[in-house]
Amino acid sequence: MSLTTPYYLIDKSKLLINMEKVARLRELSGARALLALKCFATWSVFDFMREYMDGTTSSSLNEVRLGHERFGKETHAYSVAYADYEIDEVVSHADKIIFNSIGQLDRFADRAAGIVRGLRLNPGISSSSFDLADPARPFSRLGEWDVKKVEPVMDRISGFMIHNNCENGDFDLFDRMLGTIEEKFAPLLKRAEWVSLGGGIHFTGENYPLEKFAERLKRFAGEYGVQVYLEPGEASITKSTTLETTVLDLLDNGKHLAVVDSSIEAHMLDLLIYRENAKLSPNTGQHRYMVCGKSCLAGDIFGEFDFEKELKVGDRISIQDAAGYTMVKKNWFNGVKMPAIAIRELDGNIRTVREFSYADYETSLS
Ligand SMILES: Cc1ncc(COP(=O)(O)O)c(C=O)c1O
Repeated sequence: MSLTTPYYLIDKSKLLINMEKVARLRELSGARALLALKCFATWSVFDFMREYMDGTTSSSLNEVRLGHERFGKETHAYSVAYADYEIDEVVSHADKIIFNSIGQLDRFADRAAGIVRGLRLNPGISSSSFDLADPARPFSRLGEWDVKKVEPVMDRISGFMIHNNCENGDFDLFDRMLGTIEEKFAPLLKRAEWVSLGGGIHFTGENYPLEKFAERLKRFAGEYGVQVYLEPGEASITKSTTLETTVLDLLDNGKHLAVVDSSIEAHMLDLLIYRENAKLSPNTGQHRYMVCGKSCLAGDIFGEFDFEKELKVGDRISIQDAAGYTMVKKNWFNGVKMPAIAIRELDGNIRTVREFSYADYETSLS
């Protein structure tokens, strides 16, 4: 029996392609790779991913707990700001805690004395092309940047996290920015035992020079005598997942419109925030349609795509690349049916791991 749409379909054979690259990079470079749960936290595939990665990193108490309980291995805790009521529980789940500011370090270092502590640094440069997502934007709250302020707290920390690569598929740009980081922060790096270079490096992409990247990481590690970490989110899961939808209605208002049983606002929100089109494959043919979501939002539009044949009600549309920053952001806007989550196993069998009901909708509020 075929599954009722909408559902997210995680294809393990595609996930494996990324996982093998992650594993190869770890082997070549000595760097450790932690899955960034903010990007992808669908824990039903953690048993599979665990074989290829060193653990997880987090942005909240809930994420650090999920990483500890569902993924295991090495668990890093980070948050822009921890509250007094959560810090003890965060520490209980983590191997390392990275404070975002000296203020947070001052406040909570003692309560985190039993685990490794670090600080986020902000180098003031990034590869982001979106102001909204640029960690190095003017007046950024994301990390400390003044070496003179950080030096006096070195007795309480042993390492740093620097996240300034954003959707960066350009190795030369990574290399140049790391060079700038070295110039700015050399006195701190020399005293560190570990450095996490964050996420945002698209090293699992086709044609990325993995060997050169590994060599650069290894050189960096050797130069400062540090254990390097990476926090790949998108790179870990890219191209592994689709959002499976069905056409519910067709309209013609000067353009051909196809309304599907999903919503970009509710199920792929990140695309809407960054005003990007969804991806369809192969996206070739004579018949162009605007594919629209079923929420009431006028701009609930996945994009315009070309199809080989005229669409009919009941046709299936697969939206590509639906793993990163999608499932973690899905919401109940309009009460639209929440996509189920299914996994295509390596042998081709599809297993549904989660379906959402009216009770889930009702209990999401009160
Ligand atoms: C600190 C940190 N680590 C890791 C990531 C994961 O980034 P990506 O999913 O682009 O690899 C992010 C993304 O915002 C981040 O802020």
